[in-house]
Amino acid sequence: MAQSLIRVGIVTVSDRASRGEYEDRGGPAIREYLTETLAGEWEAVARVIPDERPAIEQCLRELADVEGCCLIVTTGGTGPARRDVTPEATLAVCEKEMPGFGELMRKVSLEKVPTAILSRQTAGIRGTALIINLPGQPKAIRECLDAVMPAVPYCIDLLE
Ligand code: MTE
Repeated sequence: MAQSLIRVGIVTVSDRASRGEYEDRGGPAIREYLTETLAGEWEAVARVIPDERPAIEQCLRELADVEGCCLIVTTGGTGPARRDVTPEATLAVCEKEMPGFGELMRKVSLEKVPTAILSRQTAGIRGTALIINLPGQPKAIRECLDAVMPAVPYCIDLLE
């Protein structure tokens, strides 16, 4: 992962951000985190889409299969509300679930906020792409990625 240019999908799942009713803060927060964290050259492929399962699935397929992203990070749509469907869309396009990612992110998040139990965030593998869900709160991004990033490069190496 550190040696060559890699592409990373950054997907903000939010009805309001996709309609332009508020500024997307999650996507830029992920980009900032990865800029500080990833070794080597990488480029972001960013998308802002509504909480619609077909749109999320299509976006994840496009980023993995067409854009060649080896890592795709989503933010938003992981909670219990009727329109929160990001985990379902993620699992629908993945061949394998990686449940440890969600388990660990909830564990560390629960030390910060009791409402972390409300996130159903997970992760999975589609082809050579690792897809990781994050909650929509921008402050959750650093908390969650700090926990799982140590395992991410090795996971991606195993997919090649
Ligand atoms: N995890 C962290 N680390 N920090 C947070 O503030 N918010 C929680 C939870 N996980 C939160 C968190 C809340 S309030 C909700 S409703 C769920 O994530 C789902 O958020 P989402 O629907 O925006 O994905």
